[in-house]
Amino acid sequence: MPIQTSLQEALLNWFNENQRDLPWRQSYAPYQIWISEIMLQQTQMDRVTLFFTRWMDAFPDISTLAASSEDQVLKLWEGLGYYSRARNILKTAQLLIKDNQGKIPDNRKQLLALPGIGPYTAGAIASISFNRDVPVVDANIERIFARIYNIDLTPGSPEAKQLNWKKAEELLPKGQARNFNQALMELGALICRPKNPDCASCPVASHCLALKYDLIPERPVPRKSKKIIPIEMATGILVRDGMLFIQQRLSDDVWGSLWEFPGGRLELEEAPEQTIVREFLEETEFAVEIESKITTTVHHYTRYKVTLHCFLLHLTKGSDTDPVLHAAQDFNWISFKALQEYAFPAGHRKLITYLEETNHPISKPIP
Ligand code: ADE
Repeated sequence: MPIQTSLQEALLNWFNENQRDLPWRQSYAPYQIWISEIMLQQTQMDRVTLFFTRWMDAFPDISTLAASSEDQVLKLWEGLGYYSRARNILKTAQLLIKDNQGKIPDNRKQLLALPGIGPYTAGAIASISFNRDVPVVDANIERIFARIYNIDLTPGSPEAKQLNWKKAEELLPKGQARNFNQALMELGALICRPKNPDCASCPVASHCLALKYDLIPERPVPRKSKKIIPIEMATGILVRDGMLFIQQRLSDDVWGSLWEFPGGRLELEEAPEQTIVREFLEETEFAVEIESKITTTVHHYTRYKVTLHCFLLHLTKGSDTDPVLHAAQDFNWISFKALQEYAFPAGHRKLITYLEETNHPISKPIP
């Protein structure tokens, strides 16, 4: 048997026996594959299955989704991060309703023309949903190829990308793309893991050059670890007559269209107490005073570690006017309970949870 065929067969048989039972693997409906693949791009599987089920309950089909507001979509995405994914999903749903009878295209070219769909997602939808002979390469597959073929290129470099897409295309058994592409990804998730790969259980260990040469720790070539940048920020909950001030971020900004308490980064040699007063004035033209410090939260993002100093604020006497927004598209005065209805960035959601869990006076309904 040619080597390639035995590798393909071993992988397909292994997938048949060992695949995880995932909600979208019942029907392989294009809508479900699209949403799951977008969610999986930056988020762990167990978290995705939770969010996926909630998503399908709220938006069971493309027409329901297309008729929903950006606020509703962002609220369901809250906690998944990388919110442009959610905004692009909504744009794509609306485009499909307008131009394609609400149907997801079955080919790579048309898929690539949709917002938020790049080569990986286009390949995943075309192959997993429609079983088209289209290759995919994601981080799992890059890692598997680096090990099987002992590739010593820097992961993510143009040379490595080109080679990986070529390998993925050559290796794809015709007519079996749905199972084969998923088998590769599943192998990367369950066996050929980034750390502690389970080579003893690997169905394609006999094909693996890195294993043969004892080079697994060197494949893929270790990336230089990127420095995590520490950032200090201040935010403030302004309360007036028991109602809390929130504003909606600009749509083209980070965390676009999410809601927040105003605030910003500490300037050089500035104390958080000064930052919050300055930021309120700059962003809303409200003159505020600090009532108390609430807490300091820490949140880790891919590249940043954000320390957030949180304050409770009131308006300075005589400044009870409407805000003039300089960093937001909308604002609202709402009760503490109503905070549940809005999508907040993770750091601000942590603050809200902290207030609930510590029974902070502002978390209590107004008598
Ligand atoms: N990771 C991303 N997409 C996946 C899929 N379809 N199966 C397994 N793991 C994945």
